[in-house]
Amino acid sequence: MRAHEAGALHGDLGYRGPAWLRTPEDVNALVPHLWPRTVRRTGNGSLEIGGVAIEDLAAEYGTPAYFLDEEDLRGRCRDFVSAFAGADVYYAGKSFLCKAVVRVIEEEGLFLDVCSGGELAVALKAGFPPERIGFHGNNKSVSELSRALDAGVGRIVVDSFDEISRLTEMSRKRNKRPSVLVRVTVGVEAHTHEFIATAHEDQKFGFSLAGGAAFQAATKILDEGVLDLRGLHSHIGSQIFDTSGFEVAAKRVLELQAQIRDARGVELAELDLGGGFGIAYTTQDDPSSPGDLAKRINKIVESECEINSLRVPRLSIEPGRAIVGPAVFTLYEVGTVKDVDGIRTYVSVDGGMSDNIRTALYDASYSATVAGRRSVAEPMLARVVGKHCESGDIVVKDEFLPADVQPGDLLAVPGTGAYCRSMASNYNHVPRPPVVAVRDGASRVIVRRETEDDLLALDVG
Ligand code: LLP
Repeated sequence: MRAHEAGALHGDLGYRGPAWLRTPEDVNALVPHLWPRTVRRTGNGSLEIGGVAIEDLAAEYGTPAYFLDEEDLRGRCRDFVSAFAGADVYYAGKSFLCKAVVRVIEEEGLFLDVCSGGELAVALKAGFPPERIGFHGNNKSVSELSRALDAGVGRIVVDSFDEISRLTEMSRKRNKRPSVLVRVTVGVEAHTHEFIATAHEDQKFGFSLAGGAAFQAATKILDEGVLDLRGLHSHIGSQIFDTSGFEVAAKRVLELQAQIRDARGVELAELDLGGGFGIAYTTQDDPSSPGDLAKRINKIVESECEINSLRVPRLSIEPGRAIVGPAVFTLYEVGTVKDVDGIRTYVSVDGGMSDNIRTALYDASYSATVAGRRSVAEPMLARVVGKHCESGDIVVKDEFLPADVQPGDLLAVPGTGAYCRSMASNYNHVPRPPVVAVRDGASRVIVRRETEDDLLALDVG
């Protein structure tokens, strides 16, 4: 007996999915805001992306694999750039970075946020203009800072007093005057998972605003006169839907800006409000459009500037997930379907927590659909799991799949462009999947599949 037959269609397993999901057609339907823009189900029932049939992609590249809809990625870049006209839009490379994506980001006129020497290396290797790079991190090493100085990155976001001293010293020696922003911890409790909230007081990032450290950091930089203090930076967290967090952050940072002006007569010209804009992983998520975000953020910045008699600073934002997240789905092949009598049906795929750690790490929710065919079978509530030796190896906690899902079926999980390949591991010595870009009927590998030889090459014992 399968779980759905035992009366567990909704509720019983804690599933709070849409009540309308009742018919086989519902299970085949693609809810548009969950899928890359060019994805559709074709006449024969299988998906296509960028005009290429999923079965052809699976045959050519194998599974698991990440498929990136290049049209979608470019569209989201353009949406942010046009909605935030007059602001600098930094793509947060930590969400997913490779040379092909760097080139897209550059062509679409974005800036780039990197937070390690490795990310900087990818950007430079792809020929990204260093003056359009912002460099983040709470513990940048001396070698990372020197590479950033040598390359001439546009902004370094300083995060600690140790770093200010270190960078000041290094810049003095090299006779350089890098442009910096001060990362401010504004004390906002963002409504998101605690591991990805970054602006409450008790945490490693930034200088506390409430405790006065942020003001001291700015005045230390101004006193020493070596670094060029351009402005303040705030990032409140990630996967945030409620824009009030950004509004509170902007208000508090601008108050600090006014405090610095009053104390030192210096009006900082820039304000970076970070990233963190949420995306839809399931039908339950309802993210704001870039246009809505821009409207609300610009409004609060303008009104707070008026209240504090400040000139409106040049704004920056740093979306990662909202640009690349929805542009990708992961394609798996089903290997086993196991009914645990009356409890749940487990559908095992050929990847898992090594290609998507987010479910295990943040209790994240995802969606899935059978991608290679249309089914007329009844919906069945299932759990999609991976192949790793760990019971927490869950890809999709709860999803309605057709009750006839079977080994050999292709299964697609949307919303995997951000923080999936970039956080992928080799747990159980499973090689990491490739990233394949698809556009206008053509596909190309942009990150190749890792091989067992790649893994063995590191093992030099
Ligand atoms: N700017 C700064 C300073 C950041 O720390 C981050 C993300 C971003 C921008 C981009 O945030 P986004 O727009 O992508 O949400 N691994 C977690 C997310 C960690 C985010 C770290 N910083 C996840 O998978 O949800």
